[in-house]
Amino acid sequence: MSQAVGWIGLGRMGEAMAKKLIKAGHDVRVWNRTASKAAPLAEAGATIVATKQDLAGCAVVFTMVSTTDDLKEVLFAAGGLLTGSVKPRMVIDSSSISQEGSAEIRQRLEAMGVAYLCAPVSGNAKVAKAGKLLLVASGPKPLYTEVEPMLQAMARRVMWVGEGELARVWKIAHNTMFGVVIQNLCEITVMAEKAGIPRHIFLESINDSVLGSMYTKYKTPMLTNLTFDQVTFTPKLLLKDMDLGLGAAKAHGVPMPAAAATRESIARMVGRGYEDIDFAVLLKEVAADSGLELKSENVKMSDGLES
Ligand SMILES: NC(=O)c1ccc[n+]([C@@H]2O[C@H](COP(=O)([O-])OP(=O)(O)OC[C@H]3O[C@@H](n4cnc5c(N)ncnc54)[C@H](OP(=O)(O)O)[C@@H]3O)[C@@H](O)[C@H]2O)c1
Repeated sequence: MSQAVGWIGLGRMGEAMAKKLIKAGHDVRVWNRTASKAAPLAEAGATIVATKQDLAGCAVVFTMVSTTDDLKEVLFAAGGLLTGSVKPRMVIDSSSISQEGSAEIRQRLEAMGVAYLCAPVSGNAKVAKAGKLLLVASGPKPLYTEVEPMLQAMARRVMWVGEGELARVWKIAHNTMFGVVIQNLCEITVMAEKAGIPRHIFLESINDSVLGSMYTKYKTPMLTNLTFDQVTFTPKLLLKDMDLGLGAAKAHGVPMPAAAATRESIARMVGRGYEDIDFAVLLKEVAADSGLELKSENVKMSDGLES
């Protein structure tokens, strides 16, 4: 079995994370559905393979795709990674997917003798490029310990939260807060602007208050200058995560009124046709609901990610 590391899914996140593995000296082999997106990885030193099954001889294969169904497809559907006679020793998935879907995938993989680690992350592609991701894993502890150095190559910090799918629960909780925070940040920013406080001054003050975070800081330049075309995460992916959050809340009997209201607001934004745009475009929607026409303030703001 090759010591090369396989990678499936070179979207915004996958590209940035796979590059970190290459930089750490790993022999990385990559596959992406849209082949053109693999080109920057070849420049960075990866080997591009033609099919998913070409990665089956790698001991470790990482996946970073969109949804639970997409992960099932790349693993088990016709031509999938696990459909040939050769199989990797383990699959490590960093996509944000449901707990139930992940449990089903674990069962199918383990029945084939393939180990499985959940490894979702906190942070966008820019955070990943800056080496500032948090990676939270779950699955067999010895497996985690074995691959920890590899995970560390992609993150500022790695943590193991327990067995099975617990890292999925963690990520779902994390992204529920991610949605609720942007919803509220947009609401209070519009309120402050309508009352007369310039947007960049308001956001800078929140960032420097007890409420500021890496998240509010890195969204600040976009919210100030309305550069929503610099996509980090789409409204559709956020809606998927709010639905995962509310699904988990229902399963565990936890009322989540703030998340429920946010989910509807994000669904309305998706319904209005926002596709290939950053989810922070929510600010425009909240402003429109308030009769406020937004203008870029053209102010250079720090995103807090400079090294
Ligand atoms: N962006 C963020 O800030 C962020 C942060 C943390 C976690 N996440 C999570 O990470 C995952 C990836 O996010 P992203 O922002 O990188 O998304 P993205 O840019 O849309 O990339 C999605 C990747 O998955 C591939 N893919 C999707 N469905 C597929 C299928 N059925 N078969 C084969 N490949 C498929 C895409 O291939 P193509 O290139 O062919 O479309 C692409 O490589 C999502 O689960 C997201 O929720 C995102």
